[in-house]
Amino acid sequence: MGGGFYVSKVVGVVGIVFGAGAVATIIALAVVYSEELSKSSNAVGPTNGGSTVTAPGSSSVKPGTIVPTTKPSNEQWDKYRLPDTLKPDHYNLTLWPRLKPNAEGLYIFTGKSFVVFQCVKETDLILIHSNKLNYTKWEDGNLAKLSALGSIKAPTIKTTWLKETTQFLVVQLDGKLTAGESYKLYTEFVGELADDLGGFYRSEYEENGVKKVVATTQMQPTDARKAFPCFDEPAMKAVFHITLLHPPETVALSNGLEMAPVPVEEVGPEGPVNVLRTSFEETKRMSSYLLAFIVSDFDYVNSTTDNVLIRIYARKSAIEAGQGAYALNKTGQILKYLEKYYNVSYPLPKSDQIALPDFNAGAMENWGLITYRETALLYDINVSSNSNKERIATIISHELAHMWFGNLVTLKWWNDLWLNEGFASYVEYLGADDAEPDWNIKDLIVLGDVHRVFAVDALASSHPLSSNEEDIQKPEQISELFDAISYSKGASVLRMLSDFLSEKVFTNGISTYLTAFAYDNTVYSDLWTHLQMAVNSSGTSTSLPAGQTVHSIMNRWVRQMGFPVITINTNTGQISQEHFLLDPDSRPSVPPSEFMYEWIVPIRWMKTEVGQPQLWLQEKTANIPDMKVTGSAWVLANLNVVGYYRVNYDQSNWEKLLAVLSDRPESIPVINRAQLVDDAFNLARAKYINTTLALQTTKYLKGETEYMPWESALDNLDFFYLMFDRSEVYGDMQAYLRQQVQGLFDHYKTLTGNWKDVPSGHMDQYNQVNAIRVACSTGIKECLDLTAGWYKQWMNDSARNPIHPNLRATVYCSAISQGGAKEWEFGWKQFKNATIAIEADKLRSALACTKQPWLLNKYLEYTLDPKQIRKQDATSTIVYIANNVVGQPLAWDFIRDRWTYIFKQYGGGSFSFSNLINGVTKRFSTEFELKQLIQFQAEHNDFGSGTLAVSQSIERTKANINWVAENKASVQAWFHAETILPS
Ligand code: BES
Ligand code: ZN
Repeated sequence: MGGGFYVSKVVGVVGIVFGAGAVATIIALAVVYSEELSKSSNAVGPTNGGSTVTAPGSSSVKPGTIVPTTKPSNEQWDKYRLPDTLKPDHYNLTLWPRLKPNAEGLYIFTGKSFVVFQCVKETDLILIHSNKLNYTKWEDGNLAKLSALGSIKAPTIKTTWLKETTQFLVVQLDGKLTAGESYKLYTEFVGELADDLGGFYRSEYEENGVKKVVATTQMQPTDARKAFPCFDEPAMKAVFHITLLHPPETVALSNGLEMAPVPVEEVGPEGPVNVLRTSFEETKRMSSYLLAFIVSDFDYVNSTTDNVLIRIYARKSAIEAGQGAYALNKTGQILKYLEKYYNVSYPLPKSDQIALPDFNAGAMENWGLITYRETALLYDINVSSNSNKERIATIISHELAHMWFGNLVTLKWWNDLWLNEGFASYVEYLGADDAEPDWNIKDLIVLGDVHRVFAVDALASSHPLSSNEEDIQKPEQISELFDAISYSKGASVLRMLSDFLSEKVFTNGISTYLTAFAYDNTVYSDLWTHLQMAVNSSGTSTSLPAGQTVHSIMNRWVRQMGFPVITINTNTGQISQEHFLLDPDSRPSVPPSEFMYEWIVPIRWMKTEVGQPQLWLQEKTANIPDMKVTGSAWVLANLNVVGYYRVNYDQSNWEKLLAVLSDRPESIPVINRAQLVDDAFNLARAKYINTTLALQTTKYLKGETEYMPWESALDNLDFFYLMFDRSEVYGDMQAYLRQQVQGLFDHYKTLTGNWKDVPSGHMDQYNQVNAIRVACSTGIKECLDLTAGWYKQWMNDSARNPIHPNLRATVYCSAISQGGAKEWEFGWKQFKNATIAIEADKLRSALACTKQPWLLNKYLEYTLDPKQIRKQDATSTIVYIANNVVGQPLAWDFIRDRWTYIFKQYGGGSFSFSNLINGVTKRFSTEFELKQLIQFQAEHNDFGSGTLAVSQSIERTKANINWVAENKASVQAWFHAETILPS
């Protein structure tokens, strides 16, 4: 099946057949194509298939013109989903990315591909995905060649054309394909190797003053079709034979292990060129979205664990500096852990991981060749913080978890994405915990996922985890699913499930699921079936409530949006559940499911320091006599926040819990101390309790040194800052928090020997950062002098940065916000000169901390200039600026002014768009801002993957307006009364 389709000295059989004519066409095409592109200033790729293509029904439409779809048409090619007539078996694909621009200044790639597919239902139509590719037109005027594999003859092609909206290459046949027979479709094509972070794209960087180009891919969810024509749906699994042509001084990587590169002379549009031809071992049966092709001059470090070759690739200078070592060390260990966890061995012979200078997401689980942004893979002890290190360990663990769950067994359609991403987002903590057992990292899922998603899942504009298959059709609809609900609610409910089944039963079910569906596809209920099988064979040890199954319990959490608040009345023993809505006056956007906002809720709880047996709440209300307490006894529910719900109590139990917090905080598990704060603040937002009761949970922090409760409180107070940092409440709030944090600041000063040592615990290191951040932001002079002093020292001797990596982001921010242009310009210079992205990122966030509007405006301009700020970082930088109270209005004006441009240039990504909209509008709390937001929504009819974020922002703004009106006076009075002013 060898590649060999380009005319080369090593001529393949097919090469002789298709040879000369094809090359001539490609040359012509590439010229036409680049002319087309250079004519149109904002072209991102070839449009409607060059000069050869017209769509039936729109006969003499000029090529490249988008056909208005006024009359509704119901042809097969107007639908986004593939018909069920054909199934791919294998592909043979050769791609040749050009790492230098052509005469017109364009980077392109050329490709030749055939796919062998089976006809499962008789049809005279072949639909195969294709987007922004320009095809060679063959002698018969068509864009593809069709042959039959067996003894029968393939029907002739009637016509071929490209359907832009649904992204198909349409092949209409004169006769029918026969069910049960296999056919081969051959194409040659040209695409642009653009810097658009999707499909086959290019990433650029400078090394020793030389500009370098990497050709790389990001296929998920629907961009494999931008690299070659393919049946681009997750259930269309096939075997892929990949060949890459690349310059002699480069290496080529793909999913399979590479075979020895062969030097060949290729003839492309540019004439004969010496290249290397690298073919890869055929892949396993897999989905197209998991493919990866990379050409670079990167270097690597490697090791072997249990016969699996592990390699970490990165820029040569990064590898030379040892920045791949940490990832290499941890990968083998995490792979082993996951093999044990799944009880299925790693399915591939190798695991490559590569750090790319330009990458849209954090990382991507391509099977056997995982791609990362540099900050998510490269570690340097002299520059990286403990938080950077944790991110590397967890993200590796997350992507490796997908190698089985997602890659070996794949959900049939994107509507079930939540199970794939939610599962990896849960298991990432387990793998990282195994790699770094001293960190207690499993606890952090409560802050990182449960709290994070509670905030959005409590909105009326939330949505259920699972969507209907029919509702998810367009690429934008698919992209929109990569949200906090899929990731963090998915992770949270799976953690709860694993807990109430027990890890043993849970992993048994996972294991048989993975074995039963290996190399195949599933729907989420297949997992419930296997977990139920595991429950049934576990005997009596697992206690589901009588009459309930994994299906019946989990459907409640998966098919209806939101989560319950459990109210416990310790005077009566009455407990009840209710849909928790942050704005009690709002109405859910999704009509209630058949479950009517009732859940089957596992409740772990304790009574005055003594753990109690788990309970189930299956009805709206129940009477639990054990929960009735008197005297000083108290009840605490949702131990370790394993359950996906909030808990409210009667007033006297709240008061007793507050007393315990201040007198004997260690009687309450640290996660629950964080939870009491978070529940109280959110219950207050939803008007279940008074805001002042919520604020009271922060009083005990004076004596608290643990990270989780502090972080939880600061996250919640952050909302108060957003609402009040432009109002008269600000001064009192600052005074109160300054008073609360002083002890923590002093604690760390002592613990670190006057800021010389690093606290030993991972969580302590985090809380040290909190101590400095809050002490400085609330204006403790000693802190401000400390940070400004360190930064000045660095400015005086830029070769020696005296600031510990853990503290850098915070110290830079504090110093830049106190300083002026000199401090900012120094930071900018260091940003541009940084040799590791982790350092650059710290500066990039700190540069947004200046209080000078003119610097912030200049910085905003830089965000849309890829020479200054990489495209991958544009939206997060704008959000950093909006986080700054001075930058907020500037950022809002900026994105409104440039919206059309931003949307076009940066709209391809999945995460960034909703983050941008939510980030820039999160301070909104006035009628005037609401009006602006509504007007913004009306002015643009397309927000792509940010559509939901716009409606969420409107809902949030309305809620904020009400909240401020109701709480401003009492909050100010409370802060004022609770602050002991220095005499
Ligand atoms: N499959 C995703 C990457 C992805 C995200 C592709 C969105 C296309 C659209 C990958 O497994 C992932 O989830 N990456 C996360 C990191 C993870 C630790 C949460 C990311 O990129 O942030
Ligand atoms: Zn993932």
